[in-house]
Amino acid sequence: MSSPALAVQFGESELRLLQALVYEECGMYFDARRAHFLQDRLQRRLRECRVDSFYSYYRLLISAEGKQELACLLENLTVNETSFFRNRAQLDLFHKHLLDEVIRKKQEKQDYQIRIWSAGCSTGQEAYTVAMLIADALAYHQLRMPHSGETTWPKPLVPPPWRVEIPASDINYSVLRAGQEGIYNEHQMSSVDYNYRLRYFDKVGERYAIKKAIKEIVHFDFHNLKTEFLPQRNDVIFCRNVMMYFDEAEQRRLVEKFYRCLTPGGYLLVGHAESLLGLTDKFSMVYRENGTAYKRIEVSQ
Ligand SMILES: C[S@@+](CC[C@H](N)C(=O)[O-])C[C@H]1O[C@@H](n2cnc3c(N)ncnc32)[C@H](O)[C@@H]1O
Repeated sequence: MSSPALAVQFGESELRLLQALVYEECGMYFDARRAHFLQDRLQRRLRECRVDSFYSYYRLLISAEGKQELACLLENLTVNETSFFRNRAQLDLFHKHLLDEVIRKKQEKQDYQIRIWSAGCSTGQEAYTVAMLIADALAYHQLRMPHSGETTWPKPLVPPPWRVEIPASDINYSVLRAGQEGIYNEHQMSSVDYNYRLRYFDKVGERYAIKKAIKEIVHFDFHNLKTEFLPQRNDVIFCRNVMMYFDEAEQRRLVEKFYRCLTPGGYLLVGHAESLLGLTDKFSMVYRENGTAYKRIEVSQ
């Protein structure tokens, strides 16, 4: 193949073909409003792969040898914007009410395992925010327990017998690697106050590294939300600002999967601009002080 200097020509039908392939692979739906973005990223990949015809590239994408290029194209199509403590009102609801309920109910059943999934985690800020909030909530819970003075020193991040697991998943390998590394610059840290910086980060030169104890409870992994192989038995699922890139049919399928991935009475938290309204009747909405969450409804046998 030659190295094209000019943009490769393709029309609406070619774009539709690619749009269908991307939708089939990962659920992202590029409607007319986002067609320009798809076109732009496609041109970029064609240039970088030095391919001079749309159909040569398409054939590569659907071939067995093209799996890596397909993953690379999808990475180019994802929007990875994220931040620490994003949507404070919802995090307040999570911290003050939902976590409190989860911890209390688990304590009653003497089930000390908490699992909270960050689905579509991007570079990890959401999962680490959740980890910091749980560490605080469990420390506070422990304080209120009788005999709370009997702790070891240095205090563990997660007080025994509690065990916390935060699976953090994405379809984009580059963001997963960044999350795993857990080092953030001053700009990315702008929403983290000094109290949290001091307790949960180490300063490394000009940047901030997530402390080892927090990293140990967050596990980054590749999961495509389009598939059925997803983390199970979650007490809470954060899937924020992901569904907005899917069409309604795919959103319905995803919400159905999340229902099955939650423990009874578990919670699903979606983005500020997203809602389960009209998608399902298997969740009830919880709303407090501008924060929204959805609770799994249990159907009696
Ligand atoms: C805008 S970011 C949201 C990050 C974080 N949840 C937040 O709200 O700050 C959306 C993320 O969803 C991921 N994503 C998109 N489609 C996905 C899919 N089918 N499976 C898993 N992750 C997906 C993207 O790679 C991207 O990192």
